[in-house]
Amino acid sequence: MHQVITIDDSTSADRALRLIRRGSTLHWDGDFQNAKQLLAALGRRLPVPSGGTFHDQRRHQTERVRVLNSLLVPIINHQVRLRRAPDVRQACAEAYGPPDGERWVPLRELLGVIGAHQLRIRGVHVPALGDRIHPHYSVFAPTRSEYADLVADCPLPPGTTAFDIGTGTGLLAAILSRRGIRQVVATDNNPRAIACARENLQRLKVNAKVVETDLFPPGRADLIVCNPPWIPAAPATVLDQAVYDQDGRMLRAFLNTVREHLEPGGEVWLILSDLAERLGLRERGELLRMFRSGGLQVTGRADAVPRHRRAREGQTTSLWRLRSTAFVSTIGG
Ligand SMILES: C[S@@+](CC[C@H](N)C(=O)[O-])C[C@H]1O[C@@H](n2cnc3c(N)ncnc32)[C@H](O)[C@@H]1O
Repeated sequence: MHQVITIDDSTSADRALRLIRRGSTLHWDGDFQNAKQLLAALGRRLPVPSGGTFHDQRRHQTERVRVLNSLLVPIINHQVRLRRAPDVRQACAEAYGPPDGERWVPLRELLGVIGAHQLRIRGVHVPALGDRIHPHYSVFAPTRSEYADLVADCPLPPGTTAFDIGTGTGLLAAILSRRGIRQVVATDNNPRAIACARENLQRLKVNAKVVETDLFPPGRADLIVCNPPWIPAAPATVLDQAVYDQDGRMLRAFLNTVREHLEPGGEVWLILSDLAERLGLRERGELLRMFRSGGLQVTGRADAVPRHRRAREGQTTSLWRLRSTAFVSTIGG
């Protein structure tokens, strides 16, 4: 039976785990730093087994997160009412909005909120931009930014207009603009990404327009860039949404309709990791079929070189250069 049980510094990790496994939610009434230690100890008791399919791994991961999220701490108007608790007011305001009274928050989530706030302040240096990007909570952070090198290095097609579809922090729109494209329009369907992109572009003094919409803004462009979420599986949380694309819907919709948004002779740059293929979630042939059924032809491909040794072994991120088959066959005679 589901029960809320108050625990404190005297509760061992083994007992806490037993209580959670019996269906209890644990309210912490002790020292904040000790709560962090308890959470870490719970995490050590819940290893995710290696091997198995992507879906097996994800099931284990989801269960692990469910257990860890059962340890809750009290927040009143964005202040943690516990001994040795940090000041989380700004971090909570960024993630949850204005203070809204009392609530119990999973400690694991709160630590994520604090981490996101620190990353937002510190920013991420992106070599391809020669500048820092400041991600907001739940917006895709370019901590591994090799894909940005691809956008910085690829030869530009002729023309003066570009769309960055699914702009996140605004990074690729900034790179396109700094490369000299005069009119850049960046879109996203996540309001947090829109606010984040506007802030970054303003800070970088980049004159790009940011539009909240599903996929494309009105009009056509000479270059359309898209770095869609890479994993074709259902997002489990709001934090997953920048990385997970249920059944590859965004990718499919993008490829099916992008041709209608291109100026004649325009080019599409699709940035995609082969992670989905490595996880057995999509085959290369399916991607090539999607290009064909969208009336697109591959005119080139560049692969990123991982800078970090810890980059997932062998995972390759590519920039696919695509053009409308109608145009390619016209210029080909
Ligand atoms: C992998 S992130 C890429 C972010 C950024 N372009 C970059 O390269 O750092 C994918 C982005 O696509 C956005 N997105 C997902 N579905 C979308 C849709 N239907 N329309 C517009 N944006 C979408 C997500 O909110 C997310 O910001």
